Amino acid sequence: MIYLDNSATTTVEPSVLESYTSVATNLFANPSSIHGLGSEVEAMIFTAKTQIATLLDIHSDEIIMTSGGTEGNNIAIKGIAHARKRRGNHIITTMVEHPSVYETCVHLEEEGFKVTYLPVDASGRIRIEDVEQALTDETILVTMMHVNNEIGTIQPIEQVGNILKNYPGIAFHVDAIQSIGKIPLQMKRWNIDSCTLSGHKIHGMKGTGMLYIRKGLHVLPLFHGGNQELGLRPGTEHVPGIVSFARALRLALDQQSTVREKIERLHDKLYQRVEVMQGVHVNSPSEGCSPYIFHFSVPQLKPEVLIHMLGEKDIYVSTKSACASKSMEESRVLRACGSEKERASTGIRVSMSYETTEEEIDVFIQALDKAITQLSKVMR
Ligand SMILES: Cc1ncc(COP(=O)(O)O)c(C=O)c1O
Repeated sequence: MIYLDNSATTTVEPSVLESYTSVATNLFANPSSIHGLGSEVEAMIFTAKTQIATLLDIHSDEIIMTSGGTEGNNIAIKGIAHARKRRGNHIITTMVEHPSVYETCVHLEEEGFKVTYLPVDASGRIRIEDVEQALTDETILVTMMHVNNEIGTIQPIEQVGNILKNYPGIAFHVDAIQSIGKIPLQMKRWNIDSCTLSGHKIHGMKGTGMLYIRKGLHVLPLFHGGNQELGLRPGTEHVPGIVSFARALRLALDQQSTVREKIERLHDKLYQRVEVMQGVHVNSPSEGCSPYIFHFSVPQLKPEVLIHMLGEKDIYVSTKSACASKSMEESRVLRACGSEKERASTGIRVSMSYETTEEEIDVFIQALDKAITQLSKVMR
């Protein structure tokens, strides 16, 4: 099998699964219980959070463990907006966010907030001047992704953070789900106030993730009924999930620099070989792109047919983001980049992980070329 849909989800790293099953089996007590078993589990959570804090250069009491990216984005964006409602009602985001941010902002508009959706250039990147121009006295939150999940564009998070240093009344939330363990991210140095990560994108378990909330940032909870996770995510903790997330994060960050050269080489190869194939338009930018994501369209061909043909060869790629891939309508991201309707509805995403090998990419390139040639003949 050649699995190239790692932006949708990754395989579970064996040692992550091992830590999950070991904790689930042996440390099953409720961490809120005051007996010895409970205390042991509570200590386990503390250790995991301390490890995560060290890895990310943050404090352990700035970590809220969640079920993943969608939950983290909802808790942060709604929680910050609700907490600052009296100070202002304006939120800034971009036109290319993942649905867990984009639709949360649409929902907040229904609640009465005003949202500016920043446009992007042809490569999917926002312009810094647009952020500055969008700021008003009413602005309370800027929320932006670090790496785009469809085409891989890297947003200038550090520069936006620098601008927002001058606006202490505006919170800065970053969705770093596609960047963590892949490209550098500095939460504190870049003035990020809150940041979401997801376990299953970094070879961790599904249903695991975390939200960084800078100490002192006021966030109103979405759920009530317990004091766990600073009261922002009440309910009995997913202890095996927390412990295994810490391990997945460590492995991802350990791999980041060692596989970088390989992944960049594979990305370059994909770019050069696929760009020249018949009828192909590459959508990922040639610069300022996560090397883990490569996205292209073949406007004359139905992407589901191409995906099916590759699937018959045991090669797995996807159309756009996992949440939207079953609906064949055009991509909001590609439309925002200026692509016409046909190109925006025929996208194919190839996404790699540290496990991806050069041989796999070579086999994929060959199979894709063959499939496009065959299908183009039928279409003629
Ligand atoms: C950029 C981005 N944000 C948020 C999410 C949602 O994460 P999860 O699947 O953990 O809810 C995803 C998942 O595809 C993503 O790529």
